[in-house]
Amino acid sequence: METSRGDLNIPFRTLLGPGPSNVHPRVLRAAGIPVIGHLDPKFLELMDETMELLRFAFQTRNTITLAIPGTGSAGMEAALVNLIEPGDGVLVGVNGYFGERLSEMALRHGAEVRRVEAPWGQIIEPDLIERALAGRRAKLVAVVHAETSTGVLQPIKPIADACRRHGALLVVDAVTSLGGTPVPADDWGADICFSCTQKGLSCPPGLAPITVSDRAVAVTNSRRSPVQSWYLDLSLITRYWGSDRVYHHTAPITMLYALREALRLVHEEGLEARWHRHHRLSNALIAGLEALGLPILAPKAHRAPTLTVARIPEGVKDIEVRKALLSEHNLEIGGGLGALKGQVWRIGLMGESCNQANVLLVLSVLETALVRQGWRREKGAGVLAALEALASTPPHTGHDRHMS
Ligand SMILES: Cc1ncc(COP(=O)(O)O)c(C=O)c1O
Repeated sequence: METSRGDLNIPFRTLLGPGPSNVHPRVLRAAGIPVIGHLDPKFLELMDETMELLRFAFQTRNTITLAIPGTGSAGMEAALVNLIEPGDGVLVGVNGYFGERLSEMALRHGAEVRRVEAPWGQIIEPDLIERALAGRRAKLVAVVHAETSTGVLQPIKPIADACRRHGALLVVDAVTSLGGTPVPADDWGADICFSCTQKGLSCPPGLAPITVSDRAVAVTNSRRSPVQSWYLDLSLITRYWGSDRVYHHTAPITMLYALREALRLVHEEGLEARWHRHHRLSNALIAGLEALGLPILAPKAHRAPTLTVARIPEGVKDIEVRKALLSEHNLEIGGGLGALKGQVWRIGLMGESCNQANVLLVLSVLETALVRQGWRREKGAGVLAALEALASTPPHTGHDRHMS
């Protein structure tokens, strides 16, 4: 066997897919800091700071606000496995690939799952949830905030209100929204809200931020049976993150250095400024894509600023275009998931990746690719429309919310 394979040689890619997004050099530098022990006082200090910063990002006062080792799916699994006991009624909103995942996980944890469905590309009408809850009690409702397969941004507040009226808990998947658009866990009244590190927070993948309401803690404390997953049992994880500091797992030290730095960047920018940046630039991207003749899947009123999903024109070869973008321009965009495979492109503008240069770059290279495929003859319309949209909405300048 060959023993020396040389240094890793990874090119710089502009990451405009559904995640991961590009990582700020400060975050990469933080990840290079020497590893210390997971019970070292310096590390415990960092955990406390990370919790504070996560509360800021989730706009919450929840004591249990921490980061679980694993990706966004670990956050999803933790939310469900801690709240569900076999036989519990669980209502899941399914209007895309990740609603399906929620439903599948809830089933695996023994829930009696009822699905409230909407076509991919539409929101789940909150009334449907209300009616389903009124018809039969459910312990828990689970929905996706930004559905990454469709680019739809689900209104959460009316669903949370319906949950309150009917005594159900609410779990919100904020994997593709946190750090790019408001995720006001407390104002919503969400009971568990989870996310990932690799999208709006622009950190490498590997941790799942999660916040848990007192109501949800009370429910987990009164379980009839232990949580089926020892590793994701929040009561055990909390004893490590809380004042007890009891060993549960060896924390991924480097990832926590990185997350703390990524959250510091969010805090320095300010939440309003960050949301405005995502909103302004995704509007410019949408204007450009529409000018190229690529319709946006999500209805205008319900678009996630972090991820835009556009229909691929008839006759244009999806994979050929994405391959050309990657090999000729080091630019990644995403293809369709599930039923939308081959039919849409998913273009993310998240965290560090969300900047004006990237909007103009992706539009101009897409234009070139579409011309090459014979779908368009003239170039420039997309970039021009984006520039006009940018000129009509100034960048954020006002005062911003900071941590108290
Ligand atoms: C909405 C949503 N939920 C859950 C996940 C799962 O996250 P991960 O791939 O980090 O496990 C994703 C991943 O893209 C997602 O977009």
